[in-house]
Amino acid sequence: MSKNISLIGCGAIGHEIAKSIDKQQVPNSRVSALFDEDNEKLDQLKQSLINKPDGIFNNFDDFVNSTVFDETHFIIEAASIEAAQQYCVTLLEKGKDVMIMSTGSFSNLTFSNKIYNLIRENGRKVYLPSGAIGGSDILRAVRAHIDEVLLITTKSINSIKGAPFFIKRNLDVNTIGEKTVIFEGTAEEAISEFPSNINVSALVSMAGIGFQKTKVRVIVDPFISTNQHEIKVKWKFGEFYIKINNYPSPSNPKTSYLAVLSAIECLKSALYNDIQIGS
Ligand SMILES: NC(=O)c1ccc[n+]([C@@H]2O[C@H](COP(=O)([O-])OP(=O)(O)OC[C@H]3O[C@@H](n4cnc5c(N)ncnc54)[C@H](O)[C@@H]3O)[C@@H](O)[C@H]2O)c1
Repeated sequence: MSKNISLIGCGAIGHEIAKSIDKQQVPNSRVSALFDEDNEKLDQLKQSLINKPDGIFNNFDDFVNSTVFDETHFIIEAASIEAAQQYCVTLLEKGKDVMIMSTGSFSNLTFSNKIYNLIRENGRKVYLPSGAIGGSDILRAVRAHIDEVLLITTKSINSIKGAPFFIKRNLDVNTIGEKTVIFEGTAEEAISEFPSNINVSALVSMAGIGFQKTKVRVIVDPFISTNQHEIKVKWKFGEFYIKINNYPSPSNPKTSYLAVLSAIECLKSALYNDIQIGS
């Protein structure tokens, strides 16, 4: 039987994920419902899909009270930190498994505790794809022995503009003329300053030593078009360094193609895998 996938958030990443499912990149799956508060985004995505969804919703209550929701096997959140925090508890309470793209939502302790408690209580599953990085397997394996984790993220002007960090300080990112370290702090602080740009720091924190202990450095480089992530870890019996250099997605420069591929791979494992590769 074909698996029905519902999508919350029809922006850059949601669009790419839905189109991959539509192109049969996940076996026996279809996009059955779309939910977004923005009608234009809903319409654009619907138009671009070959197999039209059964339901299109711009209101969360209408979505969860629909028969399309009842028939959904899996839900992907790809909207925003606020949306993940607003909706995911209800989705789990209503018995759905969820993939959360807005991993920064877990830096809020109240939210993450609620999710962990619900998973324990009702046996549902939450999936956080590794997104634009790798290495979460090693971090998880050594986490009890870690002395230090530093994530260095280097972004182009285009991929970081609009972040609260600049708005709060009344800074124009376009005036940055050379490679500049603009932020150093904890992952928790990084997520509040760059909520849409630094999901990687949430994943590194959750796989490793948490949002308060993980250190983050953000660099803006006006001369690059890629997004670079370096993870430097010192632990009791060794150290490792991982560097990922992501070109922008071929069809949407706002997002790293690796993040889309990782979400698709995560979805395949969630729906079908009977063998787990890596920790
Ligand atoms: N984990 C990863 O690797 C990864 C990679 C890329 C993006 N993301 C995250 O995925 C999310 C979406 O990213 P994007 O680039 O597609 O953003 P986007 O702004 O292009 O799209 C977000 C969409 O969600 C909708 N939306 C936002 N809040 C909503 C709400 N409360 N209710 C209903 N709809 C809502 C918006 O209308 C918009 O259409 C962000 O949180 C981003 O940080 C994660």
